[in-house]
Amino acid sequence: MFGSARTSGFMILAFPAFLALFAFGCGDDKPSDSGSGDTTAATFALSDFQSASECAGCHPNHYEQWSGSMHAYATQDPIWEAQNRHEIEDLGQTNETFCVQCHSPIGFLTGTAKGAFDASELPPLVREGITCDACHSMVDPGLDNHGVSTYELNPGVTKYGPINDPKRTTAHLSEGREFFRTSDQCRNCHNLFIDGEPFEPLWTEWIGAFSAMARECQDCHMPAYTGQAAVGGPIRTVHMHEFTGVDLALTDFPNRARQRAVVDSLMKTAAKIDSLRVEPLDGSDSLAIRFQVQCLTGHNLPAGTSFRRDAWLHVVAGPGSDPHFESGYLAEDGDIDLTDPALERYYVEFEGRSEQGRITWNNSLAPLEIRRYEYRIPLPDTDGPLDVTVSFLFRALKPSFVRELGHPEFATEEFLPIFTIDEESVTFLAP
Ligand code: HEC
Ligand code: HEC
Ligand code: HEC
Ligand code: HEC
Ligand code: HEC
Repeated sequence: MFGSARTSGFMILAFPAFLALFAFGCGDDKPSDSGSGDTTAATFALSDFQSASECAGCHPNHYEQWSGSMHAYATQDPIWEAQNRHEIEDLGQTNETFCVQCHSPIGFLTGTAKGAFDASELPPLVREGITCDACHSMVDPGLDNHGVSTYELNPGVTKYGPINDPKRTTAHLSEGREFFRTSDQCRNCHNLFIDGEPFEPLWTEWIGAFSAMARECQDCHMPAYTGQAAVGGPIRTVHMHEFTGVDLALTDFPNRARQRAVVDSLMKTAAKIDSLRVEPLDGSDSLAIRFQVQCLTGHNLPAGTSFRRDAWLHVVAGPGSDPHFESGYLAEDGDIDLTDPALERYYVEFEGRSEQGRITWNNSLAPLEIRRYEYRIPLPDTDGPLDVTVSFLFRALKPSFVRELGHPEFATEEFLPIFTIDEESVTFLAP
């Protein structure tokens, strides 16, 4: 079979603890005095920021869309909370504000979300996670994150955004900034490097494909539509604020049914299976199932915190109840069965060493990459047609990861649905 021959077991890795060392001491990312990423000092007061609920009256669509997004969920996510606690209490090495610099910028900059907190006890504004003001008081998006965020916020009377000719309002001043229309706005939180080594290098994967794809993060994750930016404002091009990705809220949260539907739609654009055919192999009693997979995502698939994701091929030949051949099946506990000898999956492994963390194995699909596959299976004993189906499947979190963090109640298909990126079928008739 083509592709990777690696069969060793997968290590279940929590977010490595060594990151903390670099959160303190990364030389060329000196925190500036204007509220950028000093991971030890609080720079602002909570009263410097406004709650999203104060924007809702005039920006009802933006508010409604954002409310169900993973940005709104970032600080409330029980998996996130459990892992944050695990890092700080059990591993004891992580800087107590390292994780919140991206997951709760306002908690980070006000020093109100430190250590192994109980998310339900955080101030309501901090529980809003990546709220409107976290993005719309941004005056400098920073560049890469070398363990210390370098975005700069200037909260207060001015809201910064993409519009250069904003209608005046009594609520705030408005100022257009070019970086809101480009991937720079997302870069500092979505491109983590530790000591020069890529850790969650999503932006870097994206820029590598930009000349071929010419699409910004916003083109896929904040699609444009025609409407009002604010009640009473002119009709113009505005942008969806659902920030659709791969995760779903696990607990009670706005717009859950809608969120699942839009994740499903985004997933269907991520990759495609082509040229599926089944051919007898001359001079042998085997058949070859051949096809190719092409990645159409603007960055690797999976990307970002890819080491928690499941992306794999499910290949079935014969009737579903008692298949003649199957690969990419689940074990009883719901995890991918790693003893499957033909398993093809896309994943990233990290090695944590005390002084440095790095990607040791990266088998994710790069943008536009095409991989060709051949599965050799024995000829069926019986004559008659053989139905072959190939599916490309995705799941946001590995059930084993969720169980290890002490949340077995979420390690089910109800909470961690498997999305079909693409599926192709063909029927083989013996010549
Ligand atoms: C009283 C109504 C009102 C309230 C409250 C309000 N806004 Fe606005 N906002 C407007 C109007 C009107 C515009 C201009 C819309 C246009 O020109 O199409 C605007 C524009 C914006 C822009 C675009 C700026 C640019 O130049 O690109 C942003 C960003 C924004 N508001 C964020 C917020 C945030 C965040 C809040 C809550 C903290 C908020 N607004 C509260 C009325 C309001
Ligand atoms: C061509 C469209 C496209 C562009 C451009 C794009 N994405 Fe994505 N993105 C997707 C698709 C499709 C998925 C779902 C498949 C996947 O997980 O890779 C996704 C997934 C994600 C995820 C979930 C992480 C994961 O597990 O893979 C994040 C976070 C994300 N994108 C952020 C970004 C950011 C930030 C940028 C810009 C630097 C960006 N995307 C550019 C299409 C795009
Ligand atoms: C993760 C960052 C982020 C968050 C959180 C966020 N926005 Fe935005 N917002 C953007 C970006 C980026 C754009 C510009 C998109 C573009 O031009 O491609 C934008 C555009 C806007 C605009 C201009 C009209 C438009 O749609 O282009 C308004 C108004 C706005 N946002 C209001 C809000 C409000 C209100 C909230 C909270 C309910 C919010 N935003 C949350 C990043 C964010
Ligand atoms: C202040 C930091 C920050 C900024 C700026 C930011 N993000 Fe995010 N984003 C996050 C964090 C943290 C999460 C994970 C939240 C979670 O799942 O708990 C996230 C989640 C997402 C997701 C959902 C991923 C999933 O797992 O489903 C998408 C898509 C996304 N961001 C796109 C963007 C885009 C596009 C921009 C720029 C317009 C942007 N983000 C700007 C921090 C940020
Ligand atoms: C550089 C910014 C950044 C830092 C620092 C960071 N994260 Fe994240 N994290 C993200 C982004 C962006 C995502 C969105 C998903 C993706 O990239 O695939 C995310 C996603 C996650 C998720 C997955 C959420 C879900 O439900 O799927 C967990 C859990 C998580 N982070 C935990 C942590 C912990 C614990 C720490 C501290 C040790 C941490 N993160 C530090 C940016 C960051």
